[in-house]
Amino acid sequence: MKTINDTVKITNTNGIAIVEINAPPVNALGAKVRKGIFEAIHHVLEIEDVKAIVISCQGRTFSVGADINEFGKPRIPPSLPDVLSVIENSEKPIIVAIHGMALGGGLELAMAAHYRIAAHNAHCGLPEVNLGILPGAGGTQRLPRLVGVQKALEFITSGKKISASTALKMGLVDKLVDPNGLLEEAVKYAQGIVANNSPLKKIRELTDKVSSDKNYSEIFDKFRTENARKFRGFLAPEYIIRAIEAAVSLPFDEGMALERNLLDELLAGPQTAALRHVFFAERKSGKIPKTSSDNHVASILKVGVIGAGTMGGGIAMNFLNIGLPVVIMDMSQTALERGRVTIRKNYENSLRRGKITERQIDDRMALLSGTIELSDMADCDLVIEAVFENLEIKKSIFTQLDGIAKPGAILATNTSYLNVDEIAAVTNRPEYVIGLHFFSPANIMRLLEIVKASKTNDLCLATAASLAKRIDKVGVVVGNGWGFVGNRILQARQGEAEKLILEGASPWNVDKVLYDFGFPMGPFQMRDLVGLDVGWNKNDTSSRTVREILNEMGRHGQKTNGGFYDYDDQRTRTPSKIAETVIIDFAKKHNIVRRDISDHEIHDRTLFAMVNEGAKILEEGIAACASDIDTVWVTGYGWPKYLGGPMFWADQIGLKKVVNTLLDLEKRFGDHFKPAALLIKLAEEGGSFATE
Ligand code: 3HC
Repeated sequence: MKTINDTVKITNTNGIAIVEINAPPVNALGAKVRKGIFEAIHHVLEIEDVKAIVISCQGRTFSVGADINEFGKPRIPPSLPDVLSVIENSEKPIIVAIHGMALGGGLELAMAAHYRIAAHNAHCGLPEVNLGILPGAGGTQRLPRLVGVQKALEFITSGKKISASTALKMGLVDKLVDPNGLLEEAVKYAQGIVANNSPLKKIRELTDKVSSDKNYSEIFDKFRTENARKFRGFLAPEYIIRAIEAAVSLPFDEGMALERNLLDELLAGPQTAALRHVFFAERKSGKIPKTSSDNHVASILKVGVIGAGTMGGGIAMNFLNIGLPVVIMDMSQTALERGRVTIRKNYENSLRRGKITERQIDDRMALLSGTIELSDMADCDLVIEAVFENLEIKKSIFTQLDGIAKPGAILATNTSYLNVDEIAAVTNRPEYVIGLHFFSPANIMRLLEIVKASKTNDLCLATAASLAKRIDKVGVVVGNGWGFVGNRILQARQGEAEKLILEGASPWNVDKVLYDFGFPMGPFQMRDLVGLDVGWNKNDTSSRTVREILNEMGRHGQKTNGGFYDYDDQRTRTPSKIAETVIIDFAKKHNIVRRDISDHEIHDRTLFAMVNEGAKILEEGIAACASDIDTVWVTGYGWPKYLGGPMFWADQIGLKKVVNTLLDLEKRFGDHFKPAALLIKLAEEGGSFATE
């Protein structure tokens, strides 16, 4: 055995050298690892006895790519492309053994090798786009040569991981083996190649897949057009397309040079900094500070969900998906049956998209039981209440639940606004009461606000955080204040949007400005989608707001084919004359003078209101740090990822400028724009939310 450095060592097994990378936790290809591989390959090439080389990784995964911490810092040689060039040009066959994940530069390394073997349960991906960059070590040049242009475009711009079996079908890996015998199989495979004197398969030399697309330049424009909405404002996908165009039109080395230039341009721009912030913010938000209980977590073996509606059903699916039995409760068998049918339908949709198998649906549905008796929650370790937003009803449920649930069971409410302390106070175990605010559709949306009420204990918090990770959610711990983090900021934006339409802007103007900013939809489109009647009480409505009037007219949004917009049966939207008249009449009745409102004013009023509210949330300790607010808004509310979140965005503008804008808005539109004390303090100190 030879140790190159503390991240790379070599062992020699009957003529096959194993170059093993060991850089926990994820074998990122930092400077030391790159140097280690570079030297290891050179070293074994010199050993006559070595006939082939296997590259593998220790620990839980193969390499997940470049070390993100090195981005934005001076490059330390050897570069990854230089290391990969040594691998590809090796005269001895190099086989890569993939377990866990081969991502980014890790997969690029695998593609530079001559053969790839993967464990059955491994995954591959080029997720660079999620960091606002492109694969910069030949990924954009080698992948199209291996799998064709269309697949490469989809794979690299989506950044999604694929399973090893899909990778095998695509031709990305050569063989799948049992994870337990991966290294032995890779060595055997290498011996076979040596014995058969098999040729060195170099992807750079493949031409058939790209030459067929050489005279078909429309493929790129078609892809751009089809994805225009999805990619708008986001630079990396366009750069990826250009790099793949080069794979088709240029010789390999020229394509590589272009890929590097495009990568450098992206690295110098602001979007990748924002996306790196998002990456690290997400990881930080999932961590509960170590406490006296030392992050001990309760074991959750059975989950109860109260309410079989859309929300309750979606919540239940998260736990069924990880193999936990779920008992779901509602008032009637009919409601339970409806909930069950919806869950099955959702799974069948996933089946149609090839995401799960029939067998998995059966297994998951078998874990689901229904009841109309609250007493059936007695053996659950976690009970989540997901009935509609009415404090009295929730209190009544928690009073009963407290008498039924076993000692130590965690009682959670899915409230989006209400005071969790008031709910906890009706129980004799407030330290076991927590808010778990899922977002709709709860089986899909990744955000989970974990609401720490004043008595919630550390065990509950740590359990919720660990559970969030298990069900693949981004858990963010938030304090117990009205609307927590997400909805409180949403309300600040919505409040301003509603003022704007009374003062003269149209809902479609407001929506367009926020859509152009990068949100998937504007506030009025969102209202229509969610339903104007959510939070509206038909027994307590008296035309006090435009929304009340629209609801009173039966215009509840998309579901009734009309809200702020009119909808046809295909849900195509057109601005509604009726809604416009309601708005104009309402303004007149309340003596609001209407005027022309510029896009610039809409932009500033809606977005700076959000930043100011975020600063107040921080000040009050409802969020532990600014990056948690960013995580909430990026993962749960569609803030464009490449702008990093509202607080990161404010930092980029500069807090002095933010304060000045708010002061100006305060002068023109009222006290609610008064800058938060924290903002003023940070601006005066020359500080930022990032360093606060
Ligand atoms: N560089 C540096 N650190 C990384 C890293 C990377 N590429 N990927 C993960 N880590 C760190 C995380 O920050 C975390 O550190 P912490 O414990 O100190 O917070 C630790 O590894 C574990 O990561 P997660 O908590 O995210 O663990 P999960 O198991 O949930 O997820 C993962 C693992 C899917 C690998 C996820 O971390 C991930 O998506 N990582 C990013 C992968 C990526 O984007 N690769 C491409 C890099 S760019 C590139 O390769 C450029 C090339 O083309 C030249």
